Amino acid sequence: MLPVADPRPTPLPEGLGADVPRHVAIVMDGNGRWATARGLARTEGHGAGEASLVDVTYGAIAAGVEALTVFAFSTENWRRPVDEVRYLMNFNRGLLDRRQAELAADGVRIVFSGRRDWRVPRGVLRRMARAEVETSANTAFTLNIAFNYGGRAEIIDAVRALVAEGVSPRQVDERALARHLYRPDLPDPELVVRTSGEYRVSNFLLWEIAYAEFVFTDVLWPDFRREDLYDALMEYQRRERRFGGVTP
Ligand code: IPE
Ligand code: IPE
Ligand code: MG
Repeated sequence: MLPVADPRPTPLPEGLGADVPRHVAIVMDGNGRWATARGLARTEGHGAGEASLVDVTYGAIAAGVEALTVFAFSTENWRRPVDEVRYLMNFNRGLLDRRQAELAADGVRIVFSGRRDWRVPRGVLRRMARAEVETSANTAFTLNIAFNYGGRAEIIDAVRALVAEGVSPRQVDERALARHLYRPDLPDPELVVRTSGEYRVSNFLLWEIAYAEFVFTDVLWPDFRREDLYDALMEYQRRERRFGGVTP
């Protein structure tokens, strides 16, 4: 475990066993409703979600999780009002400006999954690339930010890469395709958490979640803290994973 300068050190819950997932993925949902309920602009909800992200990252490290993938902006989120999209683009850069140094000092590697295409402002792409380079020596924990990410787009991009390599049909198998996904260095997430009482996948990690366990919670993302993550981890530990087989 990392020697972290955790801003809110919290003991792990008694009931948390040793079988902690290596990789947890979170659909950080409910920011807009959190803000609307308070008479605030939707973007204030996104801003409030930053504290959740930082707290959950430290909680994941403390629990012994190795990687966290968080859904920050989907390929479908371009359909939102232009002001909200602009806010979310700049928010990504601002988050790095505000948090990268602190997280990196605590051993966090920051990476991104998603399409780095013309729709993302160039300055934001540059800042993302810089964060990846500057934190690349950290190996103990990975924070993977899914940004301009779509599960179908990811599979299409992998297929394109395979075709560009000139592979023959016989060489196309699950391993070959998985090697061309955005983060072949990360294991598939064993656990996916979605906040805000929505029970859908919304194009998140379609390939990687083939056998993931799902935990849904009504908590809105800006209210979500590491204690909620620990609840999800304990729920995960009560599940019986069979992978299509039978339990002896
Ligand atoms: C999740 O919160 C953040 C993003 C999708 C960027 P939402 O903005 O989807 O919040 P709700 O679902 O409208 O409450
Ligand atoms: C999924 O949430 C995307 C992110 C959390 C970034 P959405 O709020 O966009 O998903 P839908 O539209 O409710 O399915
Ligand atoms: Mg939503």
